[in-house]
Amino acid sequence: MARGADVIIIGGGIIGVACAYALTRAGVRRVVLVERGELGREASRAAAGMLAPQAEAESLGPFLDLCLAARDRYRTLEGELRDATGEDIEYCNWGLLYLVDPAEHEAARGRARWQREAGLRVEEISGQALRSLEPLLNPEIGGALLFPDEAHVRPCAVVRALTAGARERGAQVFEKVEAVDFIIGEDRLRGVRAGGETILADSIVACAGPWTGRLLDLVGHGLPTEPVRGQIVRARFDRPPLTHLVWGPRGYLVPRLNGELLIGATVERAGFDATPTLGGVAGLCEAARAMAPGLMAAPFDKAWAGLRPRLPDGLPAIGRFADIPNLYVATGHYRNGILLGPLTGELIADLVVGKEPPLSMEPFSPDRFAR
Ligand code: GLY
Repeated sequence: MARGADVIIIGGGIIGVACAYALTRAGVRRVVLVERGELGREASRAAAGMLAPQAEAESLGPFLDLCLAARDRYRTLEGELRDATGEDIEYCNWGLLYLVDPAEHEAARGRARWQREAGLRVEEISGQALRSLEPLLNPEIGGALLFPDEAHVRPCAVVRALTAGARERGAQVFEKVEAVDFIIGEDRLRGVRAGGETILADSIVACAGPWTGRLLDLVGHGLPTEPVRGQIVRARFDRPPLTHLVWGPRGYLVPRLNGELLIGATVERAGFDATPTLGGVAGLCEAARAMAPGLMAAPFDKAWAGLRPRLPDGLPAIGRFADIPNLYVATGHYRNGILLGPLTGELIADLVVGKEPPLSMEPFSPDRFAR
């Protein structure tokens, strides 16, 4: 195990490995990551991999700007990771169909309006046009918005590629090593106790998903991260049954290149219990049936769940605490961890090396809960 580091990262989900990748890419030499379980086995594994800010965001503002910048970053990241690691993250810019319920027609038009005003591409699709785009969709659906720039990736491939890229540039990445305490100096942290050893470091990044709040309790900084369970169901086809992401009022469908179809996702307060339930699976299957009844004949493959890290205002915390200048935080990405992961890593790397980030970080300051 390493004895000293420029930066120690605590947590090996997509956010942690993205920080390791971006820090090494920015020239930081001694990067150490400790993960108490296995890399990418919590929320990152449970994610469907949608890069869908136009479907997720409710209004214009800094959060949408962050999400759009993150979506743009994937366009070049795909090739960069392939060249650096040989890993294919299955970036598919297939667009997203946002199904419009007749009762939601006005709200959908409003969404189309504010997005166009912001310069985003949105097309209004009639019921007939929808069926020619996606013949499996329920003929009773009256129309949709098409967001042609939404995309998706395979999350476990993104975690693998970022990890491989970071290791390639010298990062040390440890699994089954738990950070159990911080070494506290006068005005800053001096390191971490992990795996029975002391690792001294200039900077520390805490990115342990919904467990980040518990970790920060050790330095008296309660960040109110809450776990929000998302269950997901997978069916199998011989080839992709859809050519777009499909977003409905009660769930979404994500087709993968190999014929897997993901049906997601529940949004539940169940503490730290990441077990799928019969009720959750039944609800997702019903949501899928309402969107595309023809899917119901597909073989069921598996169901699983993960815990999204959520902060009370639904925004991520990316930055550092004013009173501990070398403690950085990256968590609270809630429904957008895969989308925001790579960009978050780069923003943290900018802060660590003293470079001005390309976006204002003020709305995402971890200090906002202390004010
Ligand atoms: N990003 C979709 C979800 O969290 O369910």
